[in-house]
Amino acid sequence: MRNLIVLGLALSCVALPCSGVANAADEEPPPWAWAFTSRDDRVTPITPLAPLPGANSSAGETAPPSHNLAGSKFSFTRAEVWSSYGPADWFPEDHPQMPEIVAKGRRSSNPPIVACALCHLTDGSGRPENANLTGLTQEYIIQQLVDFSKGRRKTSDPRKANTEAMSKLATAMTEEDMRAAAEYFSSIPAKKTIKVIEAAIVPKTRSGGGTFHILPGADACTEMLGNRILETPVKEEDSEIWRSPRSGFIAYAPPGSLEIGKELVHTGSGKTVECTACHGSDLRGMGPVPRLAGLAPSYIVRQLYDMKHGNRTGLWSPLMVPLLKNLGTEDMMNAAAYLTSLDP
Ligand code: HEC
Ligand code: HEC
Repeated sequence: MRNLIVLGLALSCVALPCSGVANAADEEPPPWAWAFTSRDDRVTPITPLAPLPGANSSAGETAPPSHNLAGSKFSFTRAEVWSSYGPADWFPEDHPQMPEIVAKGRRSSNPPIVACALCHLTDGSGRPENANLTGLTQEYIIQQLVDFSKGRRKTSDPRKANTEAMSKLATAMTEEDMRAAAEYFSSIPAKKTIKVIEAAIVPKTRSGGGTFHILPGADACTEMLGNRILETPVKEEDSEIWRSPRSGFIAYAPPGSLEIGKELVHTGSGKTVECTACHGSDLRGMGPVPRLAGLAPSYIVRQLYDMKHGNRTGLWSPLMVPLLKNLGTEDMMNAAAYLTSLDP
């Protein structure tokens, strides 16, 4: 079986362009950054494993079991963890007190505002399919919320529905909501949540709910990574079922990508301007220019691709767009592997 996979990959390599050569394939959104394996994958639900008992609990349903996460003083049911208007807070000691809009959102708004904490997690550290909101300035966060609300942040792969959800809820946010959320997330220091490992052979995964999941039990096997970055939770159940903000992710990147990415980020590699010029010498951001160190690689590549292809057109995006002209998706991948590996 392994031999067949390797052979299949070797054969498919013949048709692939060599690195550095401009090619049409560069212009397709790379499926892995949108957590798909191909252009033909169908969307799989955000709930990656079994259906969530009690997720929409109605009266009369038997009480679903509670669960405890190591290190937490609390136990919650899946319904509590996945609640749109007040998701479970496993580790209140890890973050300042959340303002109402972050902890609960506002169901009565039109459209309703789902709690930021549900998607971005209570401490704002986020997940590959959304965004890390820590380590940013208030000014930047508010500008992005305004950009979302004005339809200036779209995603290049229409299968990704949560970007549209983000846009919609931003239209319902008041200035006061934006200020409160920005003040909260900008007050949380960024922490390292993703470990980058260079590897040619990786565990076989399946796509689901915006990230990749290692096949368990009898289905477990390995496959060639190829030219992509693979993000997968460190602890599948803690992360994907119980949405632990402490579980973290592993990003497998092609051997050599960190070194090539480092060169690109610090010198531009003759293709663009060095990223440090605006994002700061440590890539932790400068004034309203956002930090890049430690971000999810899929998020980084989505943003670069979206900006290059006219789908992210925020007030400050024009500063980035010309720099992306000569960068193909492989360059973006290498830069992302390196940027993710940095301490935030
Ligand atoms: C339904 C899930 C969901 C909810 C709820 C949600 N977001 Fe988001 N948010 C996203 C996604 C997805 C993205 C990234 C979009 C992409 O990659 O195309 C994002 C991106 C962002 C960004 C951009 C970060 C950056 O570095 O540019 C900000 C800021 C943000 N969200 C703030 C908020 C705030 C504040 C709330 C609560 C009022 C909130 N979000 C609620 C899904 C969500
Ligand atoms: C001329 C200044 C400048 C340079 C040089 C620059 N950037 Fe940016 N970058 C920005 C600004 C400004 C934004 C915010 C764009 C917006 O608000 O839409 C940004 C946003 C980004 C984002 C989105 C971050 C987020 O949280 O959503 C990524 C990723 C990024 N840049 C990567 C890079 C990379 C990689 C390089 C080097 C190849 C680079 N940038 C070089 C100014 C710059």
